[in-house]
Amino acid sequence: MLIAYESKYGNTKLVAEKIAEGTKKVKGVKPQLAEIKEVNLDVLHEYDVIFIGSPNHIGGPTRGVRKFVDELGRRGLGGKTFVAFDTYLGGDFGKAVKKLERRIIEKIPGAKVLAPGLSVKVQGMKGPVSEEELTKVVEFGRMVAAKIK
Ligand SMILES: Cc1cc2nc3c(=O)[nH]c(=O)nc-3n(C[C@H](O)[C@H](O)[C@H](O)COP(=O)(O)O)c2cc1C
Repeated sequence: MLIAYESKYGNTKLVAEKIAEGTKKVKGVKPQLAEIKEVNLDVLHEYDVIFIGSPNHIGGPTRGVRKFVDELGRRGLGGKTFVAFDTYLGGDFGKAVKKLERRIIEKIPGAKVLAPGLSVKVQGMKGPVSEEELTKVVEFGRMVAAKIK
């Protein structure tokens, strides 16, 4: 399991870490965390499940995340299960995560998407994320890990 994310201000990174915490509640699950720009594309075939997380930038996933998805498509990683998540400010609940899921399906033929993904509200551009939201995030990670085991 790989949890890959982009994060400018740390909110999406924190969410990725909390998802990891949740998945570890399921016995035997050992998630790897990585910033998208640090991901070694040559070893991605080793993962069964790939989480992709993006901040909402102008109503959708960031350019870096979109390019990452396109690259996975070019590398023929369609046999994997994907789970998307986003962080957003204001009224854009679910917007970026839905677009991200659509892009995964469109650009990575054969990809299985475990939808709906997770959309997490932040209190301000640079956070924080409320404890209530973070509790939901941990539970989401646990639930996904339990489902795919
Ligand atoms: C360039 C830019 C555009 C953004 N556009 C939106 C937007 O359209 N809708 C929204 O809900 N939040 C928007 N945000 C807020 C971010 O989604 C939010 O602050 C997010 O948690 C940042 O994640 P990060 O800390 O991982 O970088 C935008 C932030 C930036 C920097």
